[in-house]
Amino acid sequence: MLFTQLVTANLQTQILGREIEYYTRVDSTNLEARKLLEEGAEEGTLILTDNQTAGRGRHGESWFSGPGKGLAFSVILKPNMRGKPAGVLSLAVGLAVTDAIENFRLVSQLKWPNDVLLSGKKCGGILLETRFQGDVMTSAIAGIGINVNESQSEFPESIRNITTSIAIEKQSPAQRELILAWTLNSLERRYAGLKSGDASSIISDWENRCSHIGKTVSFNWKGENAMGIFEGVAQDGEAIIHKLDNSTRLTLSSEEIADVREV
Ligand code: BTN
Repeated sequence: MLFTQLVTANLQTQILGREIEYYTRVDSTNLEARKLLEEGAEEGTLILTDNQTAGRGRHGESWFSGPGKGLAFSVILKPNMRGKPAGVLSLAVGLAVTDAIENFRLVSQLKWPNDVLLSGKKCGGILLETRFQGDVMTSAIAGIGINVNESQSEFPESIRNITTSIAIEKQSPAQRELILAWTLNSLERRYAGLKSGDASSIISDWENRCSHIGKTVSFNWKGENAMGIFEGVAQDGEAIIHKLDNSTRLTLSSEEIADVREV
């Protein structure tokens, strides 16, 4: 069976992944999604490739996905949500990936805002690109990269020590189509909950899976390194950090802080 057919066979969704645009090779599924969105693509459209050649990460970084080994896909959402819950969407996407991975009985954790970790190493990342009209989030492209069947030596040397894959952790190959379908199944449930006003369960589930809750973290804020206790997540999805040097409590968005690391 083809990649897309196996994904479809395992979907339990009404909206997400019901339209699939598959590319054997593409620069970035997020860029492709943006073009399709501008051409009027439906909500839920899944953009999927087997070989992403110029994957984009957060804060202008690049993203490596092993050709034929990892998962690189984007989903078009049209939340039409205003206010606080909109900020929680990015957390819901990371959470959906951890939900999928836990079906393999692996313990996966989240690092602010949505790095997916296994054994403390990065195994997945999310790039959420949103559009607003006024304070209404009209569209969002949820770009998801998951390391699935890469071996350690297949990762670029620069990230080898801080990166892992599902296959490395479970010590056997994993079926990519299943992980993708499980991620969309979970995301659809969590997204529906969020749209109906339930941000709290996403926030508490996120906090339960956070690798550094209550711990001291270093982070980059306004171009400077700072230290604080990561206390949790506010109702709008922002990080609550108790800054150590002047004992102030900050609530910061993922655009305002970078490089959150447990120390
Ligand atoms: C990060 O952790 O910096 C986010 C990485 C996001 C990577 C995914 S792979 C599919 C989608 N297309 C991209 O170009 N980026 C995202």
